[in-house]
Amino acid sequence: MFQTYQARKLIRVIEAKYGHTQPWVILCEGANGWAEFVVKVFTESHLSEKPRVHGEFAGSWLATEFDLLTPEVAWVEFDQDFIQSLAPELEQKLDFHDDRLKFGSKALRNFQHFPPGLKHSQFKKYLPIDRLFAFDNFIRNPDRGSHKPNLLLTNSEAFLIDHEYALDIDSGSRWNIVGSRI
Ligand SMILES: Nc1ncnc2c1ncn2[C@@H]1O[C@H](COP(=O)(O)OP(=O)(O)O)[C@@H](O)[C@H]1O
Ligand SMILES: [Mg+2]
Repeated sequence: MFQTYQARKLIRVIEAKYGHTQPWVILCEGANGWAEFVVKVFTESHLSEKPRVHGEFAGSWLATEFDLLTPEVAWVEFDQDFIQSLAPELEQKLDFHDDRLKFGSKALRNFQHFPPGLKHSQFKKYLPIDRLFAFDNFIRNPDRGSHKPNLLLTNSEAFLIDHEYALDIDSGSRWNIVGSRI
């Protein structure tokens, strides 16, 4: 269902002000050619807390079921050649015991981050907010608000990103409305 790409070259690390995980932008090679992916390099403690990679893939897939846009996502494999090409401080961020595939989303170009306070009349040109609200509640996504919209805007469209907190459902989850507090 999801393609697998090989990481070939690190382009840059995304600054912390745009997200706590500081994903890596990586040039990758797959069966359909080369593409840049934004890859989430979760630590072992990140992954033991929640099923973050599952949330990312399932959230992304379900977004399309709601006719909402999200970048194409794929598995990204870090092989030894790629790992050895990294600067030592980045190599240290990787857990050598964890050779699992990583979550990547195809890097969008020419986007802006959703600006908090955007008027509803403007916002609705980009996407239907009622459907976004329904989607975030369906996947139990608490990670979309005015502080962290996790929406990337192009000229006329909004792309949903970052579903790592989604689908973390327990017996207390059903009563709280989450997400879309923008
Ligand atoms: N597909 C993408 N294309 C371009 N930039 C992206 C993409 N995915 C994430 N980013 C950038 O990386 C930042 C952090 O990504 P995000 O998935 O929100 O991680 P975090 O969990 O750290 O918040 C985003 O705010 C955005 O700037
Ligand atoms: Mg985020």
